[in-house]
Amino acid sequence: MKEKRTGFATRLGAIAATVGSAVGLGNIWRFPYQAGENGGGAYILVYLICVVLLGIPIMMSEFIIGRSTHKSMKGAIQELTPGSPFKIFSYVGVLGALLICGYYSVVCGWVIEYLWNSADGTLLGHTPEQYSDMFESLVGTPQRCVLWTLLFLFLNFLVLSRGIQKGVERMANIMMPLLFILLIVFCINSLMLTGSMKGMDFLFNPKFEELGWKGVVDAMGQAFMSLSLGVTCLITYSSYFKDDSRLMKDAVTISALDTLVAILAGIVIFPAVFSFGLEPNAGPKLIFEILPTIFQQMPGGMVWSILFFVLLFFASITSTISLSEIPITFMVDEYKISRGKALIITAVFMTIVAVLSALSFSTLSGVKLFEKNIFDFLDYVGPNIFMLLGGLVTAIYVGWFLKKEVIHNQLTNGGKYRSGFVQPYIIFCLRFIAPIAIIIIFLYYTGVF
Ligand code: TRP
Repeated sequence: MKEKRTGFATRLGAIAATVGSAVGLGNIWRFPYQAGENGGGAYILVYLICVVLLGIPIMMSEFIIGRSTHKSMKGAIQELTPGSPFKIFSYVGVLGALLICGYYSVVCGWVIEYLWNSADGTLLGHTPEQYSDMFESLVGTPQRCVLWTLLFLFLNFLVLSRGIQKGVERMANIMMPLLFILLIVFCINSLMLTGSMKGMDFLFNPKFEELGWKGVVDAMGQAFMSLSLGVTCLITYSSYFKDDSRLMKDAVTISALDTLVAILAGIVIFPAVFSFGLEPNAGPKLIFEILPTIFQQMPGGMVWSILFFVLLFFASITSTISLSEIPITFMVDEYKISRGKALIITAVFMTIVAVLSALSFSTLSGVKLFEKNIFDFLDYVGPNIFMLLGGLVTAIYVGWFLKKEVIHNQLTNGGKYRSGFVQPYIIFCLRFIAPIAIIIIFLYYTGVF
């Protein structure tokens, strides 16, 4: 039986849940390690440009599609433009979400182990080299990696089984502001370390010679990843928005908060990296090496580290919930199955992807896809192919095929608010800038230049 769409209870709750989706490991784990691998400042500049020119317009597009119909992508497109072939891409979104959530859960599993070790007192009190070994030992031990990942997925689906309103909204309302405050405390702490300015220089002084095409691709993929774009997540969430939510304002607020969290995470990590004489390009293990080193030099380090990993856990679970919601809502809407059944099917698929990813540093480390192990492959393909492709399709659809009235009505709530320059700006970005930029990236993949 089809369950009634409950929707988010309050406008603030809807924003908090969407910020909850956006803010996650993407900001705190992935953004710093990608910035570190791509030379810092120049990468961040490209990232910011991508947020303004592509991120915000595509976010508004997803909101327009979702809120105007209160349906997930396939049904929404069918309603807005009957017979349009664009609905096929909803399958790309669902597949993308399953793959991304699969590998992402493995990192969430690492977070739980770090939380556990913080609480039992074994995390702090080591040298940076020992932290590196500690991380290698975790990812190299299949049982540990798999168990933490499974535990995480279990909790994820437990919250989901309680329904969107009670589970997601309530959690996001409390946890997101707390995470924000904690990050600011850590920023101040990092800025007070000796030699911290080298880190700030790395972050904010663009050195374009270190960027290259790879850096540009990574920055663009990361902007999509961080804002939860391209795999119909925000279409799904905005299908639960109330009609009086303000799409323009909300999209700008959400993007700004998300970007701020990523930059704050950078300010926590890089001053410490340089102050402790470590390498910024450590890759996915970066924060797991640096954070314990930061916490242990703070008074009351154990408490800080427990608090931080608890909040990181919540930030991550509000993101995986939004990712899991994509296939669940899709199946409920399209195949009219119960939410419970959709949840179980989603859980099974995600668990398979997650276990394969969790094993890709140990048992399955020999399995290579395009010279990457399964985890690294998904970490690349998710943002840099699935999300960019989804973003391209969304931009073309809303920019070129959706009726102007629908866009106008959604942006202004039926004429109640003024859209000012926002509407022409996003239409220009959607029609020209986003397609050209993303197509250039895809040409780069094919080796044209
Ligand atoms: N934005 C989240 C992060 O930065 C990840 C995420 C959640 C996501 N939902 C998504 C990414 C949907 C793409 C699509 O951690």
